[in-house]
Amino acid sequence: MAITIKTSHIRLAKTGLAYLGGAFALYWIFQFLAAIFAIFIKRGKSLRSFGPKGSWAVITGASDGIGKEYAYQLAAKGFNVLLISRTQSKLEEIGKDLEAKYNVKTEYLAIDFAANRDEDYKKIAASVSDKDVAILVNNVGKSHDMPVTFLETEEKEMLDIININCIATLRVTQAVAPGMIARKRGAILNMGSVAGLTPTPLLATYSASKSFLATWSITLASELKPHGIHVDLVNSYFVTSAMSKIRRTSITTPNPKAFVQAALGKIGVYLTHTWGISTPYWSHGVMHWALENLAGLGTATVVGVNKSMHQDIRKRALKKKERDAKKQ
Ligand SMILES: NC(=O)c1ccc[n+]([C@@H]2O[C@H](COP(=O)([O-])OP(=O)(O)OC[C@H]3O[C@@H](n4cnc5c(N)ncnc54)[C@H](OP(=O)(O)O)[C@@H]3O)[C@@H](O)[C@H]2O)c1
Repeated sequence: MAITIKTSHIRLAKTGLAYLGGAFALYWIFQFLAAIFAIFIKRGKSLRSFGPKGSWAVITGASDGIGKEYAYQLAAKGFNVLLISRTQSKLEEIGKDLEAKYNVKTEYLAIDFAANRDEDYKKIAASVSDKDVAILVNNVGKSHDMPVTFLETEEKEMLDIININCIATLRVTQAVAPGMIARKRGAILNMGSVAGLTPTPLLATYSASKSFLATWSITLASELKPHGIHVDLVNSYFVTSAMSKIRRTSITTPNPKAFVQAALGKIGVYLTHTWGISTPYWSHGVMHWALENLAGLGTATVVGVNKSMHQDIRKRALKKKERDAKKQ
């Protein structure tokens, strides 16, 4: 039986396709404008909405890099700070400097989170029990000393990463959040990483630990929202620090000061499809949005690019190790 296609059918199909194309274009224009708004214009929640002047900020990994910068910027905004990390001498010095510079109260707890000791978490719970904690920054983190395949990863490094990145974050939150619930306000900022959102070979344990935090943080955000507590996963690409081993800033790699300034100004600001995840630094936001929306890359391509990048970093790190060994 011959099928006859009438001109009117063709016209109808053309009109349908034109409407579909138009709707698709409008959708993308909207997505693009929403991203521009979130990255460059929208301001985050006010820090004061989490607690009055004189309330406390608790910061883990507060003696260096991004955590130290959170301590300085939150103290500058009038929050007292409880500094928690490993090295007592660094904490003592930072505490004194903050008190002198910003006229705030400081306390510190020197704890090695890799040890996962019950008594350390009891100390944290005891210390926060009489404080009005407005902001908790779960910043402490450890990555691999250098990129390494999972099967070559030493057991201690593997366990340290899980204890520091995951267990410490969970246990500190269990110590601090009940007080926030009682006061019906507060913010919990969990330090994420792009390695947690895009699987990163040769950093398998670190990448998975941050992925764990991402899922946990979003679920926590949903559970604590009805109690008036705001929870963000703070997503980051490279930032200059001891951990990243990058010293020079660039358009894509801010220093901790610029990163934390952005992070504190963008609490609760999300790119589309990423509720609960803030990517506060502008160039990180652009990269993240492009990766998710424009590149059209499948997981295999993203993982492949990540893998060759970290294979290259490993090669360079091994060469440096060799050079350093020869010098000794
Ligand atoms: N830098 C980046 O490019 C980047 C990118 C994405 C995500 N992040 C995340 O950002 C967070 C901070 O990283 P960073 O680059 O600022 O690191 P960093 O400069 O190396 O500082 C790490 C902080 O954590 C403390 N710490 C390390 N191990 C500890 C332990 N076992 N117990 C208690 N405290 C310990 C350190 O204390 P001591 O001073 O005593 O050693 C220091 O205060 C991490 O969660 C990291 O995963 C960083």
